[in-house]
Amino acid sequence: MELNQSSAPIQEGIAKFLTRRVVPFDVPGHKRGRGNRELTEFLGRYCMEKDVNSMKPLDNLCHPVSIIAEAEKLAAGAFGAAAAFFMVGGTTSSVQAMVLSSTKRGDKLILPRNVHRSVINSLVLNGAIPIYVDPSVDNRLGISLGMALGAVEKAILDNPEAKAVLVNNPTYYGVCSNLKEIVKIAHAHDMKVLVDEAHGTHFYFGDDLPISGMAAGADMAAVSMHKSGGSLTQSSFLLAGTSMNSGYIRQIINLNQTTSGNYLLLSSLDLSRKKLALEGKKIFKKVADLADYAREEINNIGDYYAYSKEIINGDSIYDFDITKLSVLTLDIGLAGIEVYDLLRDDYDIQLEFGDIGNILAYISVGDREQDLERLVGALSEIRRRFKKSRVGMISQEYIRPKVMSSPQDAFYSEKISVALADAPGKISGEFVMCYPPGIPVLAPGELITKEIIQYIKYAKEKGCFMTGTEDMEIEKLNVINIIN
Ligand SMILES: Cc1ncc(COP(=O)(O)O)c(C=O)c1O
Repeated sequence: MELNQSSAPIQEGIAKFLTRRVVPFDVPGHKRGRGNRELTEFLGRYCMEKDVNSMKPLDNLCHPVSIIAEAEKLAAGAFGAAAAFFMVGGTTSSVQAMVLSSTKRGDKLILPRNVHRSVINSLVLNGAIPIYVDPSVDNRLGISLGMALGAVEKAILDNPEAKAVLVNNPTYYGVCSNLKEIVKIAHAHDMKVLVDEAHGTHFYFGDDLPISGMAAGADMAAVSMHKSGGSLTQSSFLLAGTSMNSGYIRQIINLNQTTSGNYLLLSSLDLSRKKLALEGKKIFKKVADLADYAREEINNIGDYYAYSKEIINGDSIYDFDITKLSVLTLDIGLAGIEVYDLLRDDYDIQLEFGDIGNILAYISVGDREQDLERLVGALSEIRRRFKKSRVGMISQEYIRPKVMSSPQDAFYSEKISVALADAPGKISGEFVMCYPPGIPVLAPGELITKEIIQYIKYAKEKGCFMTGTEDMEIEKLNVINIIN
């Protein structure tokens, strides 16, 4: 049956429901905003009256049979998936549902180490075992790349009992692996392919962009509609191919998901899907043109390096997402995080993130040329005002982990708190990461080395926002208490 992508069943259902002026003796208790004037003035009446709960005319996210089910079918059609699930717990919940649907305690999952914390969190939850494929590192950029095909194949051959391979498509910086070939090899060995597409929503709609998870034949994909897709923060899609049992996936989702699905988030997913299905090609052509324009201007300033497809090497950088405006800053003698802080504090420009060597400006559906001109102007001025020698700057970001125990065993084992300086040689019982990008520097179960502690201290000193530890100051680490 032909799907009508210009319809938006959840939005239409809510609009119809509101015309009936139903008297609410159900939750939410603010009763269309009347019970909290200050909040209603802040958010607006139009927003508050749409903050409704599940009921027969509006369906139920945990067991969709009417408008949410219709909206999910439309989303599946728009993304070329067999099934789509509306998610209200961020792409974190989509990633967790992917991992929990395809692995359980003791199962092996093959993955790159430069994954988002939500992936390793899933392993803490279900007790699966990570088999890391080292991403190669570009030494100039100091960023982890994609997975080389040979390395994935080796991990598969060495671990034939693994259940799935997880792939970033793309990484935060825009780097893509050879997803289609990875799918071929994994499927030939009876393994599922899970794709973290937190930064790849636009791959499903734009022309000349890297291949999307579903188009490459992957089994599941976690898609951050709220990032490049334009829906409200925290809304996300989980996609599944024909190989997956969607009834089982729904049960997995319901292990963690709220029973009070938020209709503002749901309708934003529905309307954003409609917009991208109807206008996505045009939107992402504009986004790519804007990013190209800014890249050229930034490269003309000197010392900065805004990279693009020229870094493609046919393997660990199989493709590059040209909508990502990633810029190496080290040649002006400043860490990415320092440029990120200067842009916000001195120029009122907020970037997506800055790390040790790079900044990333997220270019998307809502951006304008004049804003990019402001960014280019500010970067030029920062170079003029602050340029210094780059001696002493660290550029290497990837530190190969030594996995000593499963993330779950480590997280739940008896732990003691030690000062950073005393941690080398011990096994971490918790995460440490800079956020964003949220890629763990240390995950539970990994050996703590001097190099890692040095990196944590350097990142803190440069001003990275560090998180993951029980100690809010990141001066102590919880390590496994090994009783001899
Ligand atoms: C690669 C990757 N996966 C998953 C997520 C989780 O997304 P969310 O913040 O929507 O939970 C993020 C968040 O930045 C991410 O970068």
